[in-house]
Amino acid sequence: MHSRRALLYMPGDDLRKIRKAATLGVDSACMDMEDGVALNHKKEARFTIIEALNTIEFGKTERLARINPVGSGFEIDDLQSVLPAHPDGIVLPKVESAEQVQWVCNQISQFEQRFGWSNLGIPLLAIVETALGIINIREIACSDERLEGLIFGSEDFAGDIGAIRTREGWEVFHARSLVITHAAAFNLQAIDMVYIDFQDNEGLRQEALQGAQMGFSGKQIIHPNQVNLVQEAFTPSDDSIEFARQVIELFEQNQTTGTGAFALNGKMIDMPIVKAAERVLLRARAAGKI
Ligand code: COA
Ligand code: MG
Repeated sequence: MHSRRALLYMPGDDLRKIRKAATLGVDSACMDMEDGVALNHKKEARFTIIEALNTIEFGKTERLARINPVGSGFEIDDLQSVLPAHPDGIVLPKVESAEQVQWVCNQISQFEQRFGWSNLGIPLLAIVETALGIINIREIACSDERLEGLIFGSEDFAGDIGAIRTREGWEVFHARSLVITHAAAFNLQAIDMVYIDFQDNEGLRQEALQGAQMGFSGKQIIHPNQVNLVQEAFTPSDDSIEFARQVIELFEQNQTTGTGAFALNGKMIDMPIVKAAERVLLRARAAGKI
């Protein structure tokens, strides 16, 4: 799976921002056709995204396209326009059922067959951002093998349940937690909410670190200022990589002598800690740090 520590949105009708996104070293750039684009610019967004996919060099940055929700009336034209230009993945918003995911996955499969592309080469990421989506998250999480990640949309979710967004975010905490747990259960990435105050770096750093501590693998972002801070928050620190290496080394030594639990720096180490250490190294590797 592509590393998606930061997933940067930009309006699909804004070629200047797409060009900029390609220069930022961000893990994923998501060209939007949904809520970041005015109703009378949907067509323009499709054409601009095709142009971007065909002409802009993104380097290691993944090129995602966010279509409109299933049932919006835009989704078929969105897919039929951008899929022939082979984006690296599709982001589907306002997902509320397994059928919606399966419908889009089936459309992508048909394109892959028609163009002779490799099967399942274009992954899908599902945004869960309504009360119904959260209730049905289990069936969504295991709906299709093309699905690589669950994304939590906090602003839409808060609006849907009638919550008022606060800085502490307790009103969306339970839903965030459900997204992480279901993603973990079905081997998917979990991508955290947007921090909309793009001038508040300290607030962003705290929220990104909290998301990483909760188990998210990455975070959605909306401004170039947010790229480095968020990617750092989702990259294991040198200290935690070193600690993880020691844990695994000692674990392997102790296994040969038949010892399950042991002490390192005054802390008890057993299987769950070893598994956590393996995850740290996996993330460090995905981030290109080791
Ligand atoms: N992606 C790429 N480049 C972006 C960007 C983004 N999301 N947001 C801003 N930039 C660029 C601007 O074009 C500008 O580049 P320039 O100096 O070459 O002109 C530079 O970064 C600084 O931008 P700034 O002036 O601080 O912001 P802005 O007022 O132009 O834009 C927003 C503010 C919020 C409108 C903009 O950040 C944005 O469009 N974000 C994404 C919105 C979106 O996609 N929403 C839907 C998903 S939640
Ligand atoms: Mg949304």
